[in-house]
Amino acid sequence: MDGNGRWARRRFMPRFFGHKQGVDALVRTVQACADRGVEYLTVFAFSSENWKRPSEEVSGLMGLVLVAVSKYLAKLASQGVRIRIVGDRAQVSDKLREAWEQAESTTAHNTRITLCVAFNYGGRWDIVQACRRAMQDRVAPESLDEATLSRYMALSFAPDPDLFIRTGGEVRISNFLLWQVAYSELVFTDCLWPEFGEAQIDAAFAEYTRRDRRFGGVKPRSAEALQAP
Ligand code: FPP
Repeated sequence: MDGNGRWARRRFMPRFFGHKQGVDALVRTVQACADRGVEYLTVFAFSSENWKRPSEEVSGLMGLVLVAVSKYLAKLASQGVRIRIVGDRAQVSDKLREAWEQAESTTAHNTRITLCVAFNYGGRWDIVQACRRAMQDRVAPESLDEATLSRYMALSFAPDPDLFIRTGGEVRISNFLLWQVAYSELVFTDCLWPEFGEAQIDAAFAEYTRRDRRFGGVKPRSAEALQAP
């Protein structure tokens, strides 16, 4: 969800204003994805590296999440959204941990769409914590394969993403879902996150349908191609 700061600065507003608008963009996006039949949506809300930001921005973001949970939880729950938080919870405040637990337990039985919020998350953190937990379970090195390690990843309950969208114009993955995006289609847009919505989602989906997914194999030859001399 990149571009909140720039969006606000362009309006001569503090960066926090951009994050606030970012929450509205998130709620809008969840709704639009649910309407389009998306079953899993994972958003990068706070990275393991975001602690390096000025302390007032970090505390502002933490406070914003608490406000967002109290403002939108009932609405999302009534729309059939299941919320799951992925990331290292040890470092966040008790208040925030309780808010996450409340969001997860209130929506646990919903089935329309699962919103995974990556918070204090990093793709490398996830791989390391998965290896640690596998070692704690005494998984033998010779029996550790991709399927086994996948079961220890923070997003083990979700399928790998078909589509990865990054807003804000940067063309990099920035430590998001490193394990899971192995075969995802990547779409980069200059749209700043607070402006993201239905039009950008439809454009990304249209781009996705033009892609040729082979997962490392070869494209099956069409009947027409087979008939050609
Ligand atoms: C990146 O934009 C955005 C973030 C680091 C924060 C995103 C968080 C939210 C939208 C709030 C999430 C709330 C809930 C309830 C999950 P940036 O600040 O890096 O923007 P810039 O690249 O323009 O500076």
